[in-house]
Amino acid sequence: MQRKKITVIGAGNVGASVAAYASAQELGDIVIVDILEGIPQGKGLDMYETTPVLGVDTKVSGVNDYESTADSDLIIITAGIARKPGMSRDDLLSTNVRIVGEVSEKAAKYSPNAIMIIVSNPLDAMVYTAWKKSGFDPRKIIGMAGVLDTARFRTFIAEEIGVSVEDINALVLGGHGDTMVPLTRYCFVGGVPITKFMSESRLEELVQRTRQGGAEIVGLLKTGSAYYAPAASAVQMAKSVLQDKKRLLPVAAYLNGEYGETGIFVGVPAVLGTSGVEKVIEVDLTPEEKTAFQKSVDAVKGLVVEVDRFL
Ligand code: APR
Repeated sequence: MQRKKITVIGAGNVGASVAAYASAQELGDIVIVDILEGIPQGKGLDMYETTPVLGVDTKVSGVNDYESTADSDLIIITAGIARKPGMSRDDLLSTNVRIVGEVSEKAAKYSPNAIMIIVSNPLDAMVYTAWKKSGFDPRKIIGMAGVLDTARFRTFIAEEIGVSVEDINALVLGGHGDTMVPLTRYCFVGGVPITKFMSESRLEELVQRTRQGGAEIVGLLKTGSAYYAPAASAVQMAKSVLQDKKRLLPVAAYLNGEYGETGIFVGVPAVLGTSGVEKVIEVDLTPEEKTAFQKSVDAVKGLVVEVDRFL
């Protein structure tokens, strides 16, 4: 079987971690692209030299051009600036719309049949940007947010009740920001509803911590934002696409009538396979959940209007 080819754009904290996890999981050969000279080459070579130790056969390399990315099966976009303390994800918009717009256009030209996973923030607006600039079928463009948000939530719950993180199942809808909608009704521990394990008020505290999960890390790091969990989340999505696993994951997907919306990307549960987003799952929402989801969708729409002004 021919190895898959993965392009990772951005050799910074998130991009390098994505490449390292993807290589460690032997997902395919990896080309890391960055504008900085030497950085992608150095990090790529360093990772390549870990492969004998890890026992994986993947070629990892770094470049400053797009020719070397040609015919990739998957493009993961992490280029852009990261948050500093006091900044919201939305503060990154004007800079990152330019960067994500440029890199998605260039990468799409060389790999017209690839699937794209976007990690750069503000996430939902960057997925929209990549769609507009790449010209790709929107179902081939997927944003990474819900896997990370639910990973944070699952970590906090598992720690609190003392069970394996693997047995916590959680779902989050909406944009990747303060308006995200964690659906606690759909949270189960080994099939048992979460309400059996903690009070509503404690659960709400963990939801709040999840909502602020990114800011909590920014506050600690001070020099940038989270990267290990975001990268691992993007790689889980990558694996489902490359190996056609059909994982049902919360991701930013294009809506075409689902949830009553058309023409935007927002967090929903979706099945990921070789063709990208293969199915968006519509879950039943209570009136309160519907209101919260609508508020989140409206926030994303506000950012999309901004993106359209820049494009
Ligand atoms: N082309 C390629 N790479 C670029 C470009 C460009 N036009 N512009 C910037 N980059 C690269 C930078 O040179 C840097 O190496 O993107 C990289 C970003 O790395 P970091 O500053 O370490 O940021 P990181 O923590 O990786 O976050 C990147 O992911 O999670 C999101 O909010 C985060 O938007 C941010 C993105």
